Amino acid sequence: MLRLRGTSRLSSRQLKNAIGSQEFQVTTYARPDDLLITRGKGSILYDDLHNKKFVDFTAGIAVTSLGHSNESVSKILCDQSKKLVHSSNLYYNAECLELSKKIVEKTKALGGQHDCSKVFLCSTGTEANEAALKFAKKHGSLLGPKKHGIVAFENSFHGRTMGALSVTSNPKYRTPFGDLVPGTSFLNIQDELSVLSNFIKSKKDEIAGLIVEPVQGEGGVFPIPAEKLIGLKQICTENDVVVIHDEIQCGMGRTGKLWAHAYLPKEAHPDIFSAAKALGNGFPIAATMVNEKINNALQVGDHGTTYGGNPLGAAVGCYVMDTIGDEKFLQDVVRKGSAVQESLKKLWDLYPQHITNLRGQGLMIGLEFAEAPKELIKKCRDSGLLIITAGKSTVRFVPPLTITDEEIQEGLSIFEKAVKEVYG
Ligand SMILES: Cc1ncc(COP(=O)(O)O)c(C=O)c1O
Repeated sequence: MLRLRGTSRLSSRQLKNAIGSQEFQVTTYARPDDLLITRGKGSILYDDLHNKKFVDFTAGIAVTSLGHSNESVSKILCDQSKKLVHSSNLYYNAECLELSKKIVEKTKALGGQHDCSKVFLCSTGTEANEAALKFAKKHGSLLGPKKHGIVAFENSFHGRTMGALSVTSNPKYRTPFGDLVPGTSFLNIQDELSVLSNFIKSKKDEIAGLIVEPVQGEGGVFPIPAEKLIGLKQICTENDVVVIHDEIQCGMGRTGKLWAHAYLPKEAHPDIFSAAKALGNGFPIAATMVNEKINNALQVGDHGTTYGGNPLGAAVGCYVMDTIGDEKFLQDVVRKGSAVQESLKKLWDLYPQHITNLRGQGLMIGLEFAEAPKELIKKCRDSGLLIITAGKSTVRFVPPLTITDEEIQEGLSIFEKAVKEVYG
């Protein structure tokens, strides 16, 4: 008999079989082997095999911003899948056009890239960055024969494919894979603007673009000071270097603005920016936005993808953009983020020898510990809270943006208790 996966629960025998099949997956993740996520609703995840319920402060790594099993998203996926799932990029489809228009209009209306002009739709964050890098290189190639290098920053994360990895600094991710795309220079974002400027000026004929996360996510939740981003844009514009903001983690309302760069004055807006993660609330869809200057450098055939902008993902993306791209929704993210930061500040005051810093914007918050908080993460998990780290020793708080005040309190009290048990 046909069993409808997803609507009916798996039996305990099926769940046991599932967890027993770990040996068939490659070992690229260190997952706890006593946890099998089976369901989610809002900011709560369930493991029906072990009869456990978790407050989710991870949102699938800043993805399910409108909550797990969001009913509107499910309905859109269901309705759209009966209409049209995929038709390729050889033809226009209505959903992909609607989403592109919405992204450009909402971006401009909500203080993002003021000259946002066109959108390239794809499926993952890494691909959105690959597109951004290629677009910057194409623009550079029209200005000079050697102008295809990229400036990136230490502590950055931009993805795992060979191109995106080339601008990702972490040696652990890079070194096993030999030669990457040549022409990347890593600078330290903490350096004085004069140092960054001297480097860019001296290599201006070889540098096509600069890529930066306005809030470094995987590196440990480091918001880049506005003056730095303003200065960088000015230096880059003076040297014909295209500025790319990677908003894959910090975009889509995460910081309390639609895009993190919307906190900047318009002259500091990027030429290109990438988005993914929350854009599909878990359905893989991503986007690369460009201004007219970049678009003018692009021609038919310069880039492509089979799945990008398929009607299923685009239909979800439209709903997510409408919901997150709303002033009231964004104000609520700021309010909740401040409440979380206030509680964490109190905790820091209680454990100054173990907690060393608190950073963040909106609901993208990092609490840094003196040492890698491995035991704390496990203690939280055992007590019903899923939470992740970033960088070497930072606990990262990126819950669904729709998390309720009660769920925040529930999660924070589990966290505080776990801190007390581990460090008290
Ligand atoms: C800032 C940033 N860029 C790029 C990526 C890669 O995105 P994806 O995993 O969807 O390819 C990530 C993923 O964590 C990210 O945080």
